[in-house]
Amino acid sequence: MDIKKGLLIGSILMAALSSQAQKTTTKPYHEPYRLQAHFSPKAHWVNDPNGMVYYKGTYHLFFQHYPKGTVWGPMHWGHAISKDMIHWKELPIALYPDQLGYIFSGSVVIDENNTSGLGAKGKPAMVAIFTHHDPKGEKAGSSKFQNQSLAYSIDEGQTWKKYAGNPVLKNPGIKDFRDPKVFWYDKDKKWVMSLATKDRITFYSSLNLKDWKKESDFGQMLGAHGGVWECPDLFPLKLNGKEYWVLLVSINPGGPNKGSATQYFVGHFDGKVFTPTSTQTKWIDYGPDDYAGVTFGNTGNRKVFLGWMGNWDYANQVPTVKWRNAMTIPRELSLKLTTGDIYLASNPVKEIKKVVAKTIKVDAALLAKNNNIFSVIKQTPTQYTLKFKTQAVKDYSVMLSNANGEQLIVGYDAKNSRYYIDRTKAGQHGFSKDFATISYVPRVSTSLESDMQLVVDASSVELFADGGLSNLTGVFFPKKPYTRLSMVNNGMEIEDLELQPLRSIW
Ligand code: FRU
Repeated sequence: MDIKKGLLIGSILMAALSSQAQKTTTKPYHEPYRLQAHFSPKAHWVNDPNGMVYYKGTYHLFFQHYPKGTVWGPMHWGHAISKDMIHWKELPIALYPDQLGYIFSGSVVIDENNTSGLGAKGKPAMVAIFTHHDPKGEKAGSSKFQNQSLAYSIDEGQTWKKYAGNPVLKNPGIKDFRDPKVFWYDKDKKWVMSLATKDRITFYSSLNLKDWKKESDFGQMLGAHGGVWECPDLFPLKLNGKEYWVLLVSINPGGPNKGSATQYFVGHFDGKVFTPTSTQTKWIDYGPDDYAGVTFGNTGNRKVFLGWMGNWDYANQVPTVKWRNAMTIPRELSLKLTTGDIYLASNPVKEIKKVVAKTIKVDAALLAKNNNIFSVIKQTPTQYTLKFKTQAVKDYSVMLSNANGEQLIVGYDAKNSRYYIDRTKAGQHGFSKDFATISYVPRVSTSLESDMQLVVDASSVELFADGGLSNLTGVFFPKKPYTRLSMVNNGMEIEDLELQPLRSIW
């Protein structure tokens, strides 16, 4: 290592970052491992994001929540709101379990035309369509313990009422029958529901959100089937002016790096049937910790995805005390054509700029042909952007570490043409045999340029490579915060290296 260059970069970064030392106080939202740029509930358990919708200038995020403990339990819908999808304010719980069961995952629509009759004069209803999960029925061995129900709000989500005629879509005898995601299909002036039905997605339609008609089934013979299908989402996206439809399907277990993960299909939808354009299995994020993600409704042509940063293999065991688990950074989705196929790219939303404290551009000349750049960091979260211009993409890696020798490595393995997150020595892992892993995502881009964007928070890393075509998300739990950053670039010319310390959202 060239010590002079290393020290110079180190001191630039130190000066910029040292004012914001990582806090390990027990102030709410500032406990050890608490994410500073991501949503997590003030206390207790969280899993799937639910009912994500934009309405009258506010983003609503509901979430699977157990407000009496830090492990999964009788499910409620927690509720948080935001003006920018980055800063969140937690509101009172929206939906409580009732005589029909726990409140499992689902969606929220704005019934502008009062098709349901649940709105009041001049006050369209926000309608939640969710799964009622009856634990007694499950225990008794029934196969009909999951049914779809409605709840509504006519005060912009502040208070909620369950619909008196619940459930509105009764289980025909399929054990896994859940997670309705509903949108308005304007062409046919009707609502369309995607529902996870064990090993496939079933599409239903309705004119009033109350009476549902089955349209078609998709996927029994397609995609990954290592586990049950959950949390679908169907939405249109354009590529070069042409409309395609994207279907997200979460699956647990059976993900590409074990446990939970979300696959997607690109295709066409005619209001009744979804027809994929490719039979290749693709994943929105190959990492172990991005699950059950769906998109915000009512955002026009823009499609923003948010996932649960957890994996059912160990989500109940991760070593946080006051709360457990969190959401990913919101991600803007787009379609890209590469290697003759259409892929879904994900990138952090532009609103993340609101929490960028400063941008530190590391001088390209200093970085040229350098190897093993070293610096001292004092703070998370940080967004890192790396861009390489090269004749051939070689191995490169970024390592975060601490004085205990704990280290998290994110890098590119040229021989196998794949990006990886290595958390084998990243910190605590004794809580689960499935945790200390290296996860991989294949590179699909064929470009001679390579880029990597990393969002690193107190206990999470999200990698978006090649413009968001190859993504990995993972959580980690070092015994002490990481204070060192080093990089190996094997002589590849770095076009750009930017560090952006992020302000806490709390
Ligand atoms: C996905 C999931 C959903 C279900 C919810 C229960 O993580 O299993 O299928 O509705 O979690 O909390």
